[in-house]
Amino acid sequence: MGVALVRDEPTMEGWFQSNVLSSIGWTLDKGNPLFDLASEYKKCVQQRIDVSSKTRLSAMTLFYEPSTRTRLSFESAAHKLGIRVLTVADAGASSSASKGETLEDMGKLLGSYADVVIIRHPELGAARRLSSTAQVPIINAGDGAGEHPTQALVDLFTLREAFGTLKGLKVGLCGDLLNGRTIHSLLRLLCAFGCEVTAISPPELAIPNEVLQRIPNRDAIHAESDLHTVLPSLDVLYMTRIQKERFYDIDVYERVKHSYRLERKDLEEASDHLRILHPLPRVDEVAPDVDQDSRALYFIQSANGVPVRMALLSAILGLQNRVHAG
Ligand code: CP
Repeated sequence: MGVALVRDEPTMEGWFQSNVLSSIGWTLDKGNPLFDLASEYKKCVQQRIDVSSKTRLSAMTLFYEPSTRTRLSFESAAHKLGIRVLTVADAGASSSASKGETLEDMGKLLGSYADVVIIRHPELGAARRLSSTAQVPIINAGDGAGEHPTQALVDLFTLREAFGTLKGLKVGLCGDLLNGRTIHSLLRLLCAFGCEVTAISPPELAIPNEVLQRIPNRDAIHAESDLHTVLPSLDVLYMTRIQKERFYDIDVYERVKHSYRLERKDLEEASDHLRILHPLPRVDEVAPDVDQDSRALYFIQSANGVPVRMALLSAILGLQNRVHAG
């Protein structure tokens, strides 16, 4: 079986050899070619078409925090492309960071070991610090309560597949909007691409001012604390976990931890075309019975992590012109 994945390199110029540290400044012109390539990869993955190239490139996953989806989907994406993978899980304990080695010193040497480094770290700005000395592209896979830009790519790809366009969508972001790094990366893109956003959270977990201040049309974001008030009007409900690990004051966590719980019966008041997303993992904010509802897209969203990250690695490493199966 043959498949044509050959495309014009200039459409990917904005990604080639770039760091991916934040979603600031991303445009549809930058995102759409990547999503087009991800769509083609998704078909190939579903049809088990081999798209691996005979590259000798390698990718390192350097994770200081736990992860299921992000690390494994990056590694799966790399394997499918024929990129070799170096894994550093639990890097705080298993690397020389435990002896006091700085991110800046690590940045100076990691380019000798891999052609791209994907880092997750509990500290805000960690990926940027690593990139300040690294000679290879750095991808931020989550820096504390900062950003998670590749999750935003997965989210937008999932919405584009579901709706065809983002313009005019009414999107409710619900839960821990203070600490949710996926929210911080996604929110500015939703605003930039013409969505109407309702920020649904208790006051203690509202979107931080530092994030809001960098959104030009932030007046278009409406704040609300009651999910049920807005649910009937939404096209998209993006649920998030209350992030226990980010709370300095456990009493505050105890007060807000059960702020939201979506159950299947709640969906009777929602529109038929509602789509429910969640970056996962979940705790109890989305009941398991919601999984049976065809409007729940979060496991498809998770699976989309592989083709989207295949497209991203291809674009960054310049593989897209070499990808073919025949
Ligand atoms: N969505 C996400 O970042 O999941 P993991 O923490 O499992 O990587």
